[in-house]
Amino acid sequence: MKKLTALVLSALLLFSLSIPAWGGGTLKVGTEAGFMPFEYVDEKTGELLGFDMDLIRAVGETLGLKVEIDNIHWDGLIPALLNKNYDAVIAGMTITEERAASVNFSEPYFESVLTIVIKDQDQGLIKGTEDLTGKIAAVQINTTGDFEATDLAEAGALKSVARFDTVPDSMQAVLVGAADVILVDLPVAKSYLAANPGAPLQHLGPITDNEFYGIAIHKQNPELLEQINSALKQLQADGTYDQIFDKWFGTE
Ligand code: ARG
Repeated sequence: MKKLTALVLSALLLFSLSIPAWGGGTLKVGTEAGFMPFEYVDEKTGELLGFDMDLIRAVGETLGLKVEIDNIHWDGLIPALLNKNYDAVIAGMTITEERAASVNFSEPYFESVLTIVIKDQDQGLIKGTEDLTGKIAAVQINTTGDFEATDLAEAGALKSVARFDTVPDSMQAVLVGAADVILVDLPVAKSYLAANPGAPLQHLGPITDNEFYGIAIHKQNPELLEQINSALKQLQADGTYDQIFDKWFGTE
């Protein structure tokens, strides 16, 4: 009888270790799909596509979990994670000290950097952060682009920051003349410019130190953090990561 109890208990323990705390056999993921090529909505099918989407689906497959992804507001992602609406958030989210105070981050899965997007007509006039005095910068609210622009504005190196819910909205603001430049992640600027070849915009290349994207997980779910990290390791070791990277960035 004792043996049986011990057996049942250890089986239960094993079972509870192998699944996320609140997702069951499903990995519920939040993203904000206005961030091509990391996450965007396929216009024809409505499907969520991008580097992050492939990566998290591969992570789910490795862990034997069904992956369900919701597309919500960027600003609502961390609150939703804290509220346990999701097991994980993948959204080209930079690992920052401030965010890491409220959520856990996986090992970095992508190295990125910020750029400035300018109007063609400002070519040669705006060459970097030192040329932004008196300018208005458009950003997606609460992104690293916002943090950088806010610092510049506070230092008097920028007139003001215009904050938008999405990256495409911030691009639009410059196109309609409501702002002068956009501060955004370089791979996203490149992808936007490639997808909108008619837009009279260009980017200035890297303007800051590199940053790293991580998958965010609730601090009370360290088991899932470990599982996701081991899945990322495996995907790097078995070539899946490289395959996904080449699919989205292979032409660079
Ligand atoms: N990497 C930047 C940050 O973490 C921007 C991320 C924006 N992501 C998105 N899905 N809109 O602040």
